[in-house]
Amino acid sequence: MNRFESFLNKFDENDWLKAINELLPIMHEVDRDATQIWFRFYPLTLFKYLQSAEDKAAAIQKFVMQGNYELKNQIDSSHKFLYGHRFWMEVKTAILERAESFENSGSEFEAKIIAKLVADKLKVNESLLVGITHVGLMTLTQVGLENFKSSPGKTEKPTGLLKKSPEQIVKERAKDDSQGLLGFLKTINKQWTVRYDESKDNGKFKLMDDEEIASGAARDQSQNWLAQDARCGEGVIPVECRSAACGTCWVGILGGAEKLSDVATRERKQMKIFGYNQGDAPKPLLRLACQARANGKVSIVIPPWNGVFGKKIYGNVEEIKLEPATTSAAKLRETIAAATENN
Ligand code: FES
Repeated sequence: MNRFESFLNKFDENDWLKAINELLPIMHEVDRDATQIWFRFYPLTLFKYLQSAEDKAAAIQKFVMQGNYELKNQIDSSHKFLYGHRFWMEVKTAILERAESFENSGSEFEAKIIAKLVADKLKVNESLLVGITHVGLMTLTQVGLENFKSSPGKTEKPTGLLKKSPEQIVKERAKDDSQGLLGFLKTINKQWTVRYDESKDNGKFKLMDDEEIASGAARDQSQNWLAQDARCGEGVIPVECRSAACGTCWVGILGGAEKLSDVATRERKQMKIFGYNQGDAPKPLLRLACQARANGKVSIVIPPWNGVFGKKIYGNVEEIKLEPATTSAAKLRETIAAATENN
């Protein structure tokens, strides 16, 4: 491990999350929530646990982990929902240069120092680079210098909504759908757009007012979702139980979190059991799509994996009591119950 890697490895997940909070004021709004979501999608504590597990395959099975959970398989793409993703090649190069020449860190955050170097080189505002640079440093921490170095670093040109300026993207996320000329009189049959992929013009589906996000997703059969992700049997959002019992349907909220229903006690409790670190806000950035109901247009990002690891990884679950969901989810419930027992 080189000196820079050793330095980064001194910090635990809480240190990284605290650093984000300190960096938020100098981060452009377009990537503030996206950066916080990314760090919850790739939790360091879970990574370290799996890395040091005697039998990693058994641990993965015990946590009912499905999908693409390892950063080393997606070094150049895990962050494609960040505006700063377009600067990835330059950020990656600057991180590698810093890793080569690193002696000691001063009082400033590494993400800030490196973002400033890239901003000066590209002549773009530093605020657009802080989030992606912090993400880059965590990626290096989890994948190791050699893997980090050997990924091509190439990214596609921004498409869809992400083609627009940071200010336009922020504005677009905040906008609601027009309900027609007399929309202000409308009390029933309101419909809202859920954007699930900002890089695609057609990356959206419709939702009835006050409907759960996952229900609208299941109605959109415009594509063969299963062919794209083995977890997607019913729509673009993976679901199993539809009753907050399995953790399959977690999503990050890039825009419109305030237009979703408050987190109910069950959703909050279950998120802790799953290990999804959603904080205590009434309308947090991580939600279960089978529980969160929308009363306006929202923009979400779907993580490429899911699992149940809260008790073992964070020790934050006092009592595990899984309530019955659907018959088809019975097997999954049994596995989860086993996964969350003290062992
Ligand atoms: S589908 Fe199981 S928690 Fe939402």
